[in-house]
Amino acid sequence: MKLTILGGGGFRVPLVYGALLTDRAEGRVTRVVLHDLDARRLSAVTRVLAEQAATVPGAPEVTATTDLDEALRGADFVFSAIRVGGLEGRAHDERVALAEGVLGQETVGAGGIAYGLRTVPVAVDIARRVARLAPDAWVINFTNPAGLVTEAMSRHLGDRVIGICDSPVGLGRRIARVLGADPREAWIDYVGLNHLGWVRGLRVAGRDELPRLLADPDLLGSFEEGKLFGVDWLRSLGAIPNEYLHYYYFNREAVRAYQQAEKTRGAFLAEQQARFYEEMRRPDAAALTTWDRTRAEREATYMSENRESAGAGERDADDLSGGYEKVALALMRAIARDERTTLILNVRNQGTLSVLDTDAVIEVPCLVDANGAHPVAVAPLPDHASGLVCSVKAVEREVLAAAESGSRTTAVKAFALHPLVDSVNVARRLVEGYTAVHPGLAYLG
Ligand code: G6P
Ligand code: MN
Repeated sequence: MKLTILGGGGFRVPLVYGALLTDRAEGRVTRVVLHDLDARRLSAVTRVLAEQAATVPGAPEVTATTDLDEALRGADFVFSAIRVGGLEGRAHDERVALAEGVLGQETVGAGGIAYGLRTVPVAVDIARRVARLAPDAWVINFTNPAGLVTEAMSRHLGDRVIGICDSPVGLGRRIARVLGADPREAWIDYVGLNHLGWVRGLRVAGRDELPRLLADPDLLGSFEEGKLFGVDWLRSLGAIPNEYLHYYYFNREAVRAYQQAEKTRGAFLAEQQARFYEEMRRPDAAALTTWDRTRAEREATYMSENRESAGAGERDADDLSGGYEKVALALMRAIARDERTTLILNVRNQGTLSVLDTDAVIEVPCLVDANGAHPVAVAPLPDHASGLVCSVKAVEREVLAAAESGSRTTAVKAFALHPLVDSVNVARRLVEGYTAVHPGLAYLG
């Protein structure tokens, strides 16, 4: 099995490789090819992986290349985990929006649109190359904004591209735990778009346990989402939203907190990771120790800089490490070995949510086997949730159209139609601001 990792010089790649090292079964990945545009980052990460592998007999062989076509040829699985414009780009996404008084966040609102506009053309180019050079490969997309990017790639790869995120499984795990249930035994009724979904039920042995949680203010207030959204609001909703919905339900507070923060998340991570790659220039640097120290610092601040008061800093180690690399590995195993399982994934709707067309990528529990990921039928969303899902999907479609046509007018429309952008004039200025700082948006003329 050959696995190609795009964005192979990325900081999180050792997490993925660490997950691969735990897999001893027949049919596991035996070759890993790292691809990145930046040879220095590739060599830093390759050294970390070599130290990880040192004590593991039969560890997957690792090679690295800056040649994309070479990396893709013959791949069985392709993980796409790229960040177009790097973390500096993420910091720009945040700052330009905040200067306009609207949310600047990696994947949500104006920041997410800017990131999407930059990333879609690159993702489409990758999808075209995969279709040509590795037509039987499965593409697992982590690249954010994951739902939008998966949809862009699915236009060229159909259901051979599957998007993943760690947030739904993390949410399900936290809910199961407060209910005293084993997360592995629980069926999580979750649906929406990536970073825009709701848990509407959690079934254990045929019984929905969520009403018990919603009825108990102490239980409800005892975990991250309870603190973040507040007990009363969760009871009004009758569901537990993905943490990213905080940016919608408490937008004004979120924008203000971000504006007052000393540094944005992107700026913080950009500095922190630049230090890691800088330290790794020393040929004698202890690669794994240096990486691990940087990772620990990062996790300690995970999404918490503006949410400390909401208790976001209280995640335990498993929430932080049970992340996307485990979802990726579980998905790959199910496909490669035809080990049927259910995972919450980003796939084409195919009639699951009747308010969206069949090709719209949604986030939903899927049955996974050697034939890929098949969305499971779910109950419809309530109107307020359908409304949000439809508006955000409409914005995503404008982003896809702008990326295809290069039309600046369409890009303005994408920003202007977003529920978190409150004026067409703001949308116009956002396009000005973003095209001025992002070379990756030069195509918008
Ligand atoms: C979660 C989300 C990812 C997102 C990440 C940001 O894991 O599911 O989509 O990229 O948080 O974390 P960071 O440490 O980069 O702020
Ligand atoms: Mn995510």
